[in-house]
Amino acid sequence: MNQTLTPREIVHELDQYIIGQSKAKRSVAIALQNRIRRLKLDPGMQKEVKPKNLLMIGPTGVGKTEIARRLADLANAPFIKVEATKYTEVGYVGRDVESMVRDLVENAIRIVKKEKHEEVYDEAKENAIVRLAKVIKPGEKKKTSNTNNNASTPSGFDFASMMAQFTNQFEEEEEVETEEVARTRRAIREQIRNGQLDDHEVTIQLEEKKLSLNNTNPAMEQMMDIQDSLSAMQPKKKIERTVTVKEALELLIEEESDKLVNMEDIQQKALQLAEERGIIFIDEMDKIAISSGSNNNGQVSRQGVQRDILPIVEGSQIQTKYGIINTDYILFIGSGAFHEAKPSDLIPELQGRFPIRVHLDDLTKEDFEKILVEPKNSLTKQYMALLETDGVTIEFTDDAITAMAAYSEQLNDTTDNIGARRLHTILETVLDELLFEATDMQMGHIVINEKYVADRLEDIVEDRNLSHYIL
Ligand SMILES: Nc1ncnc2c1ncn2[C@@H]1O[C@H](COP(=O)(O)OP(=O)(O)OP(=O)(O)O)[C@@H](O)[C@H]1O
Ligand SMILES: [Mg+2]
Repeated sequence: MNQTLTPREIVHELDQYIIGQSKAKRSVAIALQNRIRRLKLDPGMQKEVKPKNLLMIGPTGVGKTEIARRLADLANAPFIKVEATKYTEVGYVGRDVESMVRDLVENAIRIVKKEKHEEVYDEAKENAIVRLAKVIKPGEKKKTSNTNNNASTPSGFDFASMMAQFTNQFEEEEEVETEEVARTRRAIREQIRNGQLDDHEVTIQLEEKKLSLNNTNPAMEQMMDIQDSLSAMQPKKKIERTVTVKEALELLIEEESDKLVNMEDIQQKALQLAEERGIIFIDEMDKIAISSGSNNNGQVSRQGVQRDILPIVEGSQIQTKYGIINTDYILFIGSGAFHEAKPSDLIPELQGRFPIRVHLDDLTKEDFEKILVEPKNSLTKQYMALLETDGVTIEFTDDAITAMAAYSEQLNDTTDNIGARRLHTILETVLDELLFEATDMQMGHIVINEKYVADRLEDIVEDRNLSHYIL
């Protein structure tokens, strides 16, 4: 892995998107750094140091999932985020928990493959350009000796030549590159390199890609694995696609890269990477806990899921289609609102495997104000961009922001506390009219001030019945 961020840098990056929650940001940053520290130890010590799994606890809508999403971009390591509710106990219909480890390995494969592809990029591109030039300027067709033979035995049924003809339809036919063809191709290659042909359409042949389904059940996955290994023995099926030269080049580079790298190496490296650096973020952990107050419906299965997760978190060997992976050093970050169920409602063994607990704070009015404007992708920025596509520019005054934050807090207090998600409904309501009209208005500049906000929210906020439904 090339560059890795220091804990301080990780926190700084998270700060661009998530307001407050500094404790949680620190903890995840430290957990990430500890993995890297571990890898620098001597092998004896390395074996002893297990990751300290982390449990993020906090009310709904305060940034837990958001932290995970952003972390995924930063981790520079195999990282997946899964929902605990997605899994079912072994034996029930649904995904088994082991599939999360298989998904992690898939993620690692993608990372390593990308790295390897970058290494061979120049060569692959050159090969792709050569291939593409051949497609654009086919060679002179040559009468193959094969067909000549065929003609001399007109009545004979020649299976081999029939097959040859059949495959010829898909393969590049036997062609000769005359002097003239060679010259034209050279020119075409140059034009492809310069991007002069980017918008032209070509029809190219590609190897058929197996689509990897993600949400299949284990039986299906196994079947697909078998299919994979079977199809590896057969010649690859070809498909035809008509695309622009620019797209064609990308597709062909991908395919040529695959030819240049050693898949076996990639798999071994990916397994190792996932083992040593992998992170699995399990969201909605509280949903598989069983709150002491509730009755017993459907809970057998939930507890089963917890029990199935245990060995994975604890460290076990799991079979993937690339080989066996050991989960001892995978870092797990659990997360949940634990609003109804408490962490103590998880089965004790599982609680013990998440020794570090971080609590996320309730968001204040000031936080709401910042969330509305500060993050790189903040809500107000999003709406400004959306409306600008219709030629309408909008501007929020500071007191409008303050007002929206205040209404949000008030509603969270009087109705349900849904955290920052409240801002989405508030903003949508404030801008409702504009979002409807903007396309017809075509252009204009709208200033949204405190009065504008109050006019659209006051009545609804005051009327508790209404606010329950609308905001
Ligand atoms: N601290 C924050 N900073 C910036 N945006 C936030 C923050 N907290 C929440 N948000 C925004 O609110 C929305 C919901 O947040 P998120 O998905 O992280 O909630 P959560 O904590 O995972 O809640 P739940 O327990 O219900 O899953 C997101 O769109 C996110 O952008
Ligand atoms: Mg969430």
